[in-house]
Amino acid sequence: MSKKTVLVTRKIPEAGLSLLRKSAIVKICSEIDDTLPEREELIKGVKTADVIISLVTEKIDLEIMESNPKLLGISNYAVGYDNIDVKTATELGIPVTNTPGVLTDTTADLAWALLMAVARRIPAADKFARKKQFKTWSPNLMLGTDISTGGLKKQKTLGIIGYGKIGKAVHKRANGFDMKVIAHDPYQKGTIEKTFEYRELDDLLRESDFITIHVPMNEKTKHLIGEREFNLMKKTAFIINTARGPIIEEKELIKALSEGKIAGAGLDVYENEPDIPDELIKMENVVLLPHIGSASTDTRNEMAKLAASNATYLLNGKKCEFTVNPKVYESEAYENRLK
Ligand code: DGY
Repeated sequence: MSKKTVLVTRKIPEAGLSLLRKSAIVKICSEIDDTLPEREELIKGVKTADVIISLVTEKIDLEIMESNPKLLGISNYAVGYDNIDVKTATELGIPVTNTPGVLTDTTADLAWALLMAVARRIPAADKFARKKQFKTWSPNLMLGTDISTGGLKKQKTLGIIGYGKIGKAVHKRANGFDMKVIAHDPYQKGTIEKTFEYRELDDLLRESDFITIHVPMNEKTKHLIGEREFNLMKKTAFIINTARGPIIEEKELIKALSEGKIAGAGLDVYENEPDIPDELIKMENVVLLPHIGSASTDTRNEMAKLAASNATYLLNGKKCEFTVNPKVYESEAYENRLK
């Protein structure tokens, strides 16, 4: 039997590519790091592919999907899949898979790194030290905000928006800081446990000293946090976003930060990536990262292996556990693709 073809939109780690090569022909649309594939190249490649492995930087829409009536599936190399028009994929009978689990801890670690960096002014202090401005220890040098109970022995509250795998992992880390943890998530409504209490979103915003976002990006969560929400937050609160940029209305975030409505922000994601507004770049109470939530060598290798394994299920016309639109397997449109 001749080998089927997998089109990888951009080069992923060899750990995944070598797995794929065992059973398929692998074509890579863009081999150069930091270089996006040309749209035309992508469409050309999809036409002769059986399965696509896509990255969050590629918009997989109707035009791409329609270009190959025999496409057997899309395996996204990410847990988020807002780059893919899943509704259209389902209508066309195309399964879409993602890579949950393998990046949970790495992303939770980064949310904490951002939280600590912004609260304790780590980037500013690092810059200060490098510029050789450190002349002497000083009582007022680089004063930040306590995360744990601190000098006042006052417990801080962490508000987690989105209590899925990553939200829970962020919570686990908060226990070491003796924080009170509250969370908002439609699927956890009403939950009160020993270490976590459910809150409606507005209450969470009012009560939290640190707010961290872990919901997926979709029509319901776009601009979940805007002017009204910033007005509810404490002036001393910090907001952390490692999920997706458009969940926060960026112009309102800039306004809230410049008007002192909140104390600071730690951001890994942006509304119009890779653009980062100049206003944010100029702010000292903001820590900015280039979307590196899952960026550790081991995790990226595991993501590549999982994306490759998912793609192999799709190539063989088998149901994959990590399918985000599982109903598709029952559709006639899917059956037709297998014929
Ligand atoms: C994800 O997995 O959704 C990340 O944002 C990409 O690493």
